[in-house]
Amino acid sequence: MRIAIVGGTGYVGFCTGLGFASKRHDVVLIDLNAKKLAGVREGRCPVYEPGAAEILRKVLDQGNLTTATIIPEADIILLAVGTPSLPDGGINVTQIKKVSETIGSTIKTWNTSPVIVVKSTVVPGTTETVVKPIVESTSGKHAGTDFGLVMNPEFLREGVALKDFLNPDRIVIGEYDKRSGDLVATLYKDFPGTLMRTSLAAAEMIKYANNAFLATKISFINEIGNLCKRLGIDIDEVAKGIALDKRIAPHFLQSGVGYGGSCFPKDVAALASLAKQNGYEPKLLNEVMALNKRQRRLLLDRLGPMKGKRVAVLGLAFKPNTDDVRESPAIDIIGDLVNQGASVVAYDPQAMITMKQVFPNILYAQTAKEALQTADACVVLTDWNEFKELTIEDFTQMHGTQIIEGRRILKPEINADGLCW
Ligand code: UGA
Repeated sequence: MRIAIVGGTGYVGFCTGLGFASKRHDVVLIDLNAKKLAGVREGRCPVYEPGAAEILRKVLDQGNLTTATIIPEADIILLAVGTPSLPDGGINVTQIKKVSETIGSTIKTWNTSPVIVVKSTVVPGTTETVVKPIVESTSGKHAGTDFGLVMNPEFLREGVALKDFLNPDRIVIGEYDKRSGDLVATLYKDFPGTLMRTSLAAAEMIKYANNAFLATKISFINEIGNLCKRLGIDIDEVAKGIALDKRIAPHFLQSGVGYGGSCFPKDVAALASLAKQNGYEPKLLNEVMALNKRQRRLLLDRLGPMKGKRVAVLGLAFKPNTDDVRESPAIDIIGDLVNQGASVVAYDPQAMITMKQVFPNILYAQTAKEALQTADACVVLTDWNEFKELTIEDFTQMHGTQIIEGRRILKPEINADGLCW
């Protein structure tokens, strides 16, 4: 099938494009930035994702991936632009509206009836009340007859997005009209996982409820972890014990400094904001967010006053295998240390360039070992595998002895003070 992806150089658009191209569909990545597109054609990934460069080379060689600045005729137009947070937690649909207008004016002259697939994370109701009327008015055509409409949420995790794309637990197809649902279902016909067809709004809500539930699991295990720490109980033994109950499952039960990233914080806040707008107080969601922020405070409190001290921060990305620092616990923690008057020396295997945009004036070390040298205290905020290799000798280079682990990754003999363990 011919698939045009608007927002094709963004994280979701690009990974989805690579995935469909690797399945031999003809994918066109659309972006207004011609320079970025030229880079893609030369094999440069516009986002950091392990394994993506190899697949990009392959699909370019096979001729299954091309780029364009305007939408070419296609069977499917996939909308994958960003929906950033508004100050009240709601989502900003400016790009969704703009792209819907562009799609409408583009398909106006087409003799075919393309299916518009919303991949962006949008609050329930957006596809039907924002995308549909804009496309209809700018194209002069009708949804369900002249063009199709589907909401197909993504569940990709950064760092393993391509694996997740090809091996989904489930595929959710929210459809306005049956023909469109059928077409999108054929796109996924040889994918593993359960294919589920729903209304547009249910598909939109599944995405939010999914992320909110996972965030809730993390805040829950952090709550139990904080208590276990006080009682001298190993939280990981407890997590393992409850994970054996099939109803609970072992995933997302790692306690620590809490969740970050471009999805959980934004999506839980958007769901809570939607609830409030609809006259419902989202007590649980509010607590999930508050508990998550509290983990960062707890780590700082454990560290104590750091004015005039040198603090090594190991791990800046919100999780390993990414250079993404959005909503990373490291941002709040470094910000507080800097405000206190501490001298911060940070290290991350991938995320130093991105963090330099947030904190250009702190020190950055070339290695974890270098960051530790002469530090009065150390905090570990991302569970990068390479931190497993650090030895007691590396830590003896510090001036002080305080090592606080926000993620459980160091060798046990280092005897770091775990946040919840
Ligand atoms: C998340 C979801 O897992 C994806 O399914 C979803 O598609 C994506 O958001 C999205 O909405 O686009 P992602 O943000 O890439 O994916 O990262 P996760 O692997 O889910 O981790 C999120 C945060 O939770 C990280 O900061 C991680 O360190 C933290 N976490 C995760 C914990 O603190 N404990 C855990 O047990 C698991």
